[in-house]
Amino acid sequence: MSSMKIRNQDNWVKNKKLILKHNQKIKTYESTIAFYNFLKSNRVLSKKTMHVVDVGTGLGSHLGYFSEKNSQVKFTGIDYSSRLIKEAKKINKKDNINFFKVNILKKNTNKFIANCDGITCIQTFCCFKNAKDPIKFMSNLKPKWIAINSLFYNGPLDIQIHIKDYEDLPSGEGSDGDFNIFSLKEISKVFKKYGYRLDKATQFYPKVKLPKIKNGRRGSYTMRTELNKNTTFSGPVHLPWHFILAKKIRD
Ligand SMILES: C[S@@+](CC[C@H](N)C(=O)[O-])C[C@H]1O[C@@H](n2cnc3c(N)ncnc32)[C@H](O)[C@@H]1O
Repeated sequence: MSSMKIRNQDNWVKNKKLILKHNQKIKTYESTIAFYNFLKSNRVLSKKTMHVVDVGTGLGSHLGYFSEKNSQVKFTGIDYSSRLIKEAKKINKKDNINFFKVNILKKNTNKFIANCDGITCIQTFCCFKNAKDPIKFMSNLKPKWIAINSLFYNGPLDIQIHIKDYEDLPSGEGSDGDFNIFSLKEISKVFKKYGYRLDKATQFYPKVKLPKIKNGRRGSYTMRTELNKNTTFSGPVHLPWHFILAKKIRD
């Protein structure tokens, strides 16, 4: 058994430059816009939507963009990191956005987020070791739909990838993260168990080529492959980004 110490994934919040980069105030990411368009084209984010909860919201960067476009919708970001929630509140001072500290690996006690209309979970599902725990938490909030932007594979395999980034922390110990990839077929079974049907799974490839990161550092870049002219990688790993949508089977 490995004795490797694994830390919470919020150490980088001490770095003000990274906060500036990740809060998308400088520029909205192409993937944020594409995921928003996915929600719109599948008619889940609509004039009838009242309340959307963003699970593992980080700095709530996506909510800034979503709320500008949908001022009638209430958005709530949840994350287990106190540091991130504190920064998210500072960055997103809007009437229709709020944040709570919630650990989704524990039973929910926050009444405000229960019975929301929809759930978004963006680039966070890949942090979990199994698909059951986050799906159980999300379905317990009884939303009509759950939309996830994460790493999925159309085959009978789950792949676990743990990242240690040795340049992230001044101590040089390495920060921790995950790029776990889940089998679409298997998560569809988990959704079914909790009363949801996996309705859509769309691969996401950036339209614009992303340049390779200098000195092999972490960060998304694209390469032309047989899969797509803009296949996404980070370091040595191919990232099979998908947008998926699950809908409640019955009320
Ligand atoms: C890769 S970040 C993505 C953040 C944000 N969704 C984005 O796209 O910018 C993953 C987020 O999940 C949060 N997270 C990880 N495990 C969690 C848990 N058990 N409960 C709540 N949040 C968690 C982390 O704190 C982090 O903010």
